Amino acid sequence: MQAFLRKADVGAPRHWILNQYAYAMKILITGGTNGMGKGVAKILAGLDQQAHEIIILCRSHTLGEAVKTELIQLTSNQKISIILCDLTRLADVKRAIAEIHAGHDYLDGIFINAGIGYAATRVETEDGMDSHFQVNYLSQFMLTLNLLDLLYKSSQGGRIIFNVTRTGEIHWDDLQMNRQWKFETCVHQAMVAKRMLLVKLHDLHRNRPDSALSFVGFEISKPVWSNQLNIIPFFMRAMATLMKAFGSFYSIEQCGEIMAPLFTESHQESLKRSGKLITWKKNAFLELQEDEKVLDKELQDRLWNISLELCGDEKMKERF
Ligand SMILES: NC(=O)c1ccc[n+]([C@@H]2O[C@H](COP(=O)([O-])OP(=O)(O)OC[C@H]3O[C@@H](n4cnc5c(N)ncnc54)[C@H](OP(=O)(O)O)[C@@H]3O)[C@@H](O)[C@H]2O)c1
Repeated sequence: MQAFLRKADVGAPRHWILNQYAYAMKILITGGTNGMGKGVAKILAGLDQQAHEIIILCRSHTLGEAVKTELIQLTSNQKISIILCDLTRLADVKRAIAEIHAGHDYLDGIFINAGIGYAATRVETEDGMDSHFQVNYLSQFMLTLNLLDLLYKSSQGGRIIFNVTRTGEIHWDDLQMNRQWKFETCVHQAMVAKRMLLVKLHDLHRNRPDSALSFVGFEISKPVWSNQLNIIPFFMRAMATLMKAFGSFYSIEQCGEIMAPLFTESHQESLKRSGKLITWKKNAFLELQEDEKVLDKELQDRLWNISLELCGDEKMKERF
C-alpha cells in the first residue's frame, strides 16, 4: 500500500480536497458496466494518480471488456479487470467467488450495486427465484459473505458500500413475489433486505477485535441518468427527459464523484459511518433515520436464516 499526495481536484466536492492523503485501494464493483456502478468505477479509476485498482463484476464479457477499455483509455489506469458473473445464477456466483479468491489475496472495498430496475413482467431465475430478489439481493448476500475474508486482509479497513434507497418492506409471506409482483415492489423489497444485511453485518463485526470492517448504506439524493432510461417504456422516458431538463438527475459521473470518497476515505472515517444509512446533501454526507423494522434484530435474523437456506450451500451455512 502506498500513500501519496492527492492532487487538487478542480471542481470536486470540497471534502475531497480537505482529505489530502489517500491510499491505493482495491475495489470490487458489482454492476460496473452501466449506471451508478460505472460512474463510481470511472471516477475511482482516474483518482489519486490512477492509484486505485478496480475489479468490475459483470454478466457480459463483451460489455465488460468494452468498459474496461473505455476506462483505461479515459484514465490511463491499467489496473482494471473484469470478473464474469450472472447474478441470476447462484452457480455463477459460486464460480465468481472462487475466481476472486484465486486472483486476489485481499480487497479494500466492495460496492454492492448491481440491480435490475424496470421489468415488464416477473421473470423466474433458473434457481426458482424472482429475478429482482435474486439479482438485487440474494446473489449479492452470497457474494458479500464469501468475500468478507478478503476484506479482513485489507490494511485500510475493508468496507462495503451498499447502494440502497429508503422505501420498501419485506413481504415475508411472498418473498418471491408470486402473488403481488410489481417491479417497484420487488426493487424496494431488495433495498430493505440489503439494509437489514448491512446493519446485521455491522452488529456482528463491531465488537470483533480482529475486524476493522465497515458496512455503509448510501442513498443517492437525486435519481441518476442510468441505463434504466434506455429500458423503461416510452411515456416514462419522455417524463424523465423533461425532468432532466430541469436538473432533476445526476449524471453517472456526478454520482461517481459524490460516492468515490466513501471508498477512499480513511478507515477511521469509514468506521464512523458503519451500520448507518447516509446520503449526500449540501456538500456533505448526512445520516438518515433508519426504519425500526430494518433495525429489528429478530427480523434481521429471520431474513439471514432464510437467505442462507436459499443459497443452498451447506459449508456456507456452517460458517455463518
Ligand atoms: N438510477 C437511479 O436513480 C438509482 C437510484 C437509487 C438506487 N439505484 C440502484 O442502483 C443500482 C444500479 O442501478 P442503475 O440505475 O445504475 O442501473 P443500470 O444502469 O441498469 O445498471 C445496473 C447494473 O447492474 C448490472 N446487472 C443487472 N443484472 C445483472 C445480472 N443478472 N448479473 C450481473 N449484473 C447485472 C447491469 O449489467 P449490464 O450492464 O450488463 O446491464 C449494470 O451494470 C440498482 O440496484 C438500482 O436499484 C438507482
